[in-house]
Amino acid sequence: IRVLSTASECVPLVKTGGLADVAGALPAALAPEGVEMRTLIPAYRPVKAALTGGKVHDLGEVMGGSAHLLEARLGEAVLYALDAPHLFDREGGPYLDASGRDFDDNPERFAALSQVAALLAAEGIEGWHPDILHVHDWQTALAPLYLAERKPTRHPGTVLTIHNIAFQGMIPADRRMRLDLPEAGFTSDGYEFWGQISALKVGLVWADRITTVSPTYAEELLTPEFGMGMEGVLTARRSDLSGILNGIDRAAWTPPYKSPRGKAKHRAALRREFELPEADGPLCIVISRLSHQKGLDVLLDALPALIDHGGQLALLGSGDPALEAAFRQAAQHRNVAVRIGYDEALSHRMMAGADAILVPSRFEPCGLTQLYGLSHGTLPVVARTGGLNDTVIDANPMALQSGVATGLQFQPVTASALAGTFARLHALWSEPAQWQKMMKNAMAQDVGWDVSARAYAALYQDLTPET
Ligand code: ADP
Ligand code: GLC
Repeated sequence: IRVLSTASECVPLVKTGGLADVAGALPAALAPEGVEMRTLIPAYRPVKAALTGGKVHDLGEVMGGSAHLLEARLGEAVLYALDAPHLFDREGGPYLDASGRDFDDNPERFAALSQVAALLAAEGIEGWHPDILHVHDWQTALAPLYLAERKPTRHPGTVLTIHNIAFQGMIPADRRMRLDLPEAGFTSDGYEFWGQISALKVGLVWADRITTVSPTYAEELLTPEFGMGMEGVLTARRSDLSGILNGIDRAAWTPPYKSPRGKAKHRAALRREFELPEADGPLCIVISRLSHQKGLDVLLDALPALIDHGGQLALLGSGDPALEAAFRQAAQHRNVAVRIGYDEALSHRMMAGADAILVPSRFEPCGLTQLYGLSHGTLPVVARTGGLNDTVIDANPMALQSGVATGLQFQPVTASALAGTFARLHALWSEPAQWQKMMKNAMAQDVGWDVSARAYAALYQDLTPET
């Protein structure tokens, strides 16, 4: 099965969150299932700089400027980068300018990416014709409609994966012509959403199948609390919606020890690195975007309970300036240490040295850091929502008695519920045999891609056109 996957970020070339990890991991994860996946991303300035010397395909004019396709490798797989300098060769990140504001022309930038994805899906490239077009989030969600508009004789199946429904790609209606969207689609059962165009809704309506990144989030999306206005559209498409859990790249996230005992020296090193005192309590970490989604304001309110129970916090994150400032302030306490920024290598050292990882998200489609935590025997303390619900086995009395617990879950996402969870964490910590058993359980969990790769392959198989 040949699949063209397209996304706005992809490790190791460009990343702001888990979408990049997933887009980057899928081709290798799916290869053993007989899926040949090629990936299309924008050639942002740093991406272009990293990809030199490969084949270049002329695309003519795309969205008012000349464009080329740069061909490169993503591990064993083929990667295409859309080189359209008028759209992607600029200062700043993938979505925001250097001062942190959305680029005005994000609709055009990602519509261009979607148009090129549709072109490759419809016409193939050098004799390679995809059976499936797999798009991710709003940035590429226009592609199934562009593909339908091309009316190819052999129409590839289309899949949209929702990584986060909070980002809906809202576009003023007067940009419709510029984006070459058919007027007939501008209706409430098409891509119109509260008087505007929603790029995500295009995918929700036009893709053959919709997936999201955990079974629980797939259910939650049908509710007003989590659907963020899209619950109606999604309910209408319920039979085409499913949840497939993310995995992690086990090679990139192998702990530097084989058994729980090996953690001690990494814990000591982490305390030194963060200048935290020796303590007989769990060393807890957070590695996260600092945004409302992640519930870290709730953690700030519950911090005294963690500290009173002998715990410590080391946080690595960046994002919302108010949260950054509040955590800097919290770091005045000797048992709290904070690094504002983005640091991949440090995140690995933290995973190896910590006893627990805190993920108090208000919603979490899948979440990856709790999976890294499991693989490292760093027990996840998580809100009972989305993928966190599907990946962590709460240390309730029966799970402890059966010896299957891997972490702690709490709900609702309030400071008092989280504080109560820190009391439970302390009780577990006070029984070393119990804690060691949970570490062993965690490290034995299957957090790789195998199971989910089979689920994607089965989905693609279903959608592969006959001839
Ligand atoms: P989301 O995609 O919502 O941000 P995920 O848990 O799916 O959440 O993925 C986040 C990814 O980004 C993980 O790979 C995590 O390790 C990484 N990450 C987040 N913040 C930082 C940071 N400050 N430094 C290093 N890595 C980070
Ligand atoms: C999103 C979600 C996160 C998920 C990631 C990858 O950014 O917030 O929960 O793990 O996408 O699917």
